[in-house]
Amino acid sequence: MALMARRVVHIHPTLLCNLTCAHCYSTSSPQMPRGLDPDDILKATAQLAEQGYDSASLSGGEPTIYFGLDRLCDGLRDQNFSVSVITNGLQPRRIVSFAERHRPDLISVSFDGLAPRHDLIRRKQGSFERAMESLMRLTGAGHRCGAVVSLGEDGMEDIPALVAQIAAAGASHVQIHPVSELGRGLTSAIVREPSDDTLLRAMVLSQVLDVMYPECRIICDALTGDLLQAKPRPKVGELVSPVVIGADGQVFPVAYGLAGQFSFGNLSDGVSPTVYSAALVDLIDRCWNDAASRAATAFYPDLTRLSHAERKAAVAGQT
Ligand SMILES: C[S@@+](CC[C@H](N)C(=O)[O-])C[C@H]1O[C@@H](n2cnc3c(N)ncnc32)[C@H](O)[C@@H]1O
Ligand code: SF4
Repeated sequence: MALMARRVVHIHPTLLCNLTCAHCYSTSSPQMPRGLDPDDILKATAQLAEQGYDSASLSGGEPTIYFGLDRLCDGLRDQNFSVSVITNGLQPRRIVSFAERHRPDLISVSFDGLAPRHDLIRRKQGSFERAMESLMRLTGAGHRCGAVVSLGEDGMEDIPALVAQIAAAGASHVQIHPVSELGRGLTSAIVREPSDDTLLRAMVLSQVLDVMYPECRIICDALTGDLLQAKPRPKVGELVSPVVIGADGQVFPVAYGLAGQFSFGNLSDGVSPTVYSAALVDLIDRCWNDAASRAATAFYPDLTRLSHAERKAAVAGQT
């Protein structure tokens, strides 16, 4: 199995959203500005395409309410990117209409548990039902869909029944994604980051469910040390995927919310998304060695721990 099959650009064109979820790492809300100019984003993606990046993943904020969505999708297609979109599924008709216009390669709908937990975390009654309706309408219209399921410390008990519903709705895969304490998730009393023990259980459960639902791939976003030990560390450039374009124009390697020292720069200053800082190379070395020596590990939280510390200090400084 390839560690990085595709080279991905994660684009957060806006933090404007029709929800204010309790765990939201990007602190998105209806009060945020409308977002980046799509043509500024396309200048950066043109550079990245030349470096071999071939897959664009649109997030946010809620990408389906971004004012520049049509222009951005058309431009990305012209640059030969495959396009995937993640949505909260709150507006089924709008989402299906977007899918019909642009035929994205993949649409993922987000879930946080069964209806009571999902609606509590999304802070909107009925949001689970609408997300499930979006998923069913999209698959019914022939679009390739996945589901991203956030997992906090208390969410495990919902996973088997939720996966059964998502598989029955026709999703091609379910990605179980551990909650990170970032953004609103940093101070949320509703969701906590899963412990290593819970992550390990989630990894085992995802493999069991994967066997139970052969038509729907179930994966957990935590890497096993075995996978890493089997390989010598690739060159840094091969590991830097995704590149993340934030709604403030900052461009980061690997993960949203990394500490400032890893930033490639801002879209407004012109970015060189292939010049890696010594700090990033050192961090990747340490993560690789650390991860490869453990039976199970959450690679993403390891990478972002430093950034969490920076954000926690910033929050502490404000209070
Ligand atoms: C930030 S949202 C943007 C796209 C869209 N609004 C949605 O909710 O799908 C992207 C994904 O991040 C997940 N997410 C939000 N906050 C998170 C956190 N603190 N840790 C892990 N995943 C988180 C959401 O559940 C969603 O699946
Ligand atoms: S998780 Fe998605 S839907 Fe929820 S506030 Fe954040 S961007 Fe909006």
